[in-house]
Amino acid sequence: MSESEFNLLPAFAVWWRQERTEASTITVLHRLLTIAWEFVRDSLPEKRRERYGDVDYDWEKRVDTTAATVSWRARLLGLLNSPYQPVPPEEFREMMAALAVHLDPLSDFSHFTFIDIGSGKGRALLLATEYGFRRIIGIELLPELDRIARENALAFKQRGGKMEIEVVCGDATTFCFPVEPIVLFLFNPLPEPALRVFLQNLENSLRQNPRPLWMIYANPAFEKEKIVAGNPLLSKVGGTHQYSLFRSSREN
Ligand SMILES: C[S@@+](CC[C@H](N)C(=O)[O-])C[C@H]1O[C@@H](n2cnc3c(N)ncnc32)[C@H](O)[C@@H]1O
Repeated sequence: MSESEFNLLPAFAVWWRQERTEASTITVLHRLLTIAWEFVRDSLPEKRRERYGDVDYDWEKRVDTTAATVSWRARLLGLLNSPYQPVPPEEFREMMAALAVHLDPLSDFSHFTFIDIGSGKGRALLLATEYGFRRIIGIELLPELDRIARENALAFKQRGGKMEIEVVCGDATTFCFPVEPIVLFLFNPLPEPALRVFLQNLENSLRQNPRPLWMIYANPAFEKEKIVAGNPLLSKVGGTHQYSLFRSSREN
């Protein structure tokens, strides 16, 4: 889907339908007003300046992953789903170090495919190239962000990056998971109704093709963490206030 085809009205209609499956019209209208208010606040000059606080990584690696230059359309669409924000590199590395401690020494990252759910401009994908994964895949809903992630992956490759990064533009709730051992990375990408659909899809995939799966959930809101922990095939094995680590149960 092209950037101009990804219109606000259909996206809004999907959002409204999803929200209404779980909440009353009044509650959803209230959420809509909150989103409108956040959008206005987020457009103020000092908020825009604040968003430039994440550019160090871009200066160092000569890529574009900052939230500061995202268009107003993508920011508004982001508020309906989840706003784009790149993962801070030091937090990503801390989460990966925590995961490495849990992995069987015979089963290092080279056995796993890394998948970033809601990959945005691709910062987590670029960071994942530091770990020797078998494959690296990102799935991103918004065509504008997906295009920039592809440009970043290409620039990375042209500067001697050894790994191919695959980027898919689409809805993570209908993603077709590869039948391989997987490390899933979620930096709070989905609102609650979409998270439930995503987890059901993941569960179906694991039941059909049992395989090792680890999930890093960065910045989990309390309710969302409860939703993930409630999945019968996932168990929480660690974390801090900044992230939670889950693994698929051995018998899946
Ligand atoms: C907080 S950002 C994370 C960016 C990236 N993972 C990183 O760590 O740098 C969340 C991303 O999820 C995307 N997103 C929201 N809903 C989605 C969906 N249903 N399918 C795919 N991506 C989605 C948003 O557009 C946004 O880019």
